[in-house]
Amino acid sequence: MSEPFLELRGISASYGAIQALSKVSLKVPQGGIVALLGSNGAGKSSTLNTISHLVDPTHGEVIFDGKPIQRLPSDEIVQRGLVQVPEGREVFKEMSVHENLELGAFLRRNRREMAEDFDKVYVMFPRLKERREQRASTLSGGEQQMLAIGRALMSRPRMIMFDEPSMGLSPVLVEQIFESIQRLNREQGLTILLVEQDVRLALTVASYAYILENGEINLEGPSQQLINDPAVRRAYLGV
Ligand SMILES: Nc1ncnc2c1ncn2[C@@H]1O[C@H](COP(=O)(O)OP(=O)(O)OP(=O)(O)O)[C@@H](O)[C@H]1O
Ligand SMILES: [Mg+2]
Repeated sequence: MSEPFLELRGISASYGAIQALSKVSLKVPQGGIVALLGSNGAGKSSTLNTISHLVDPTHGEVIFDGKPIQRLPSDEIVQRGLVQVPEGREVFKEMSVHENLELGAFLRRNRREMAEDFDKVYVMFPRLKERREQRASTLSGGEQQMLAIGRALMSRPRMIMFDEPSMGLSPVLVEQIFESIQRLNREQGLTILLVEQDVRLALTVASYAYILENGEINLEGPSQQLINDPAVRRAYLGV
């Protein structure tokens, strides 16, 4: 692999006495899709939140685009092009679709660029355009996921981290969301770190994956290899 775009080196993190992450190391190549998998409570969200510096690491380094970022404030990390689409979407329910998207651009001033970005998001998700003046609370789960992705795109990211984008969605919507994620990668060259509980789905879109268990990476490899690994099949694919 050439220089990774994002790299975690021995990241540990705790919530008080609870150690959530222990010496987590991983790499994401530029333009790649890498999956971070594991069951409930394994530490997937804690990993993303540590990268975004919403959680302070107790040890280790986070390197993005060749520079350590683990001490930077979260908004500075977004400004450098690394953004997270959080678990449970976290859109602002009382605000309109358009206002939610505007929030994603809060770090930017250039009005012309912003207008271009609104256009791009509305082309990608015509549903959001139709509903632009509606309150986010009136959107379906799938539309809220689109809105959360659109909001992330408004910051002009170079890399997006998705935290369980399939959660609570019907199979048809899951397919649509994953198609959008793949298009962002293919057509816009966005680097992607994908957190998922749906291991089968994640392994079909990612080229490489890491499996977290109790806050530690206990297995990693090319997706093809993991799909055929008997232990993975037993533990995560139900075969
Ligand atoms: N704010 C918090 N305060 C205390 N403990 C926390 C907090 N957030 C997470 N934890 C604990 O840290 C561990 C890892 O949680 P985390 O949310 O990172 O797991 P996850 O892999 O994202 O799980 P899920 O698939 O359910 O989203 C768990 O034991 C969890 O209970
Ligand atoms: Mg989580």
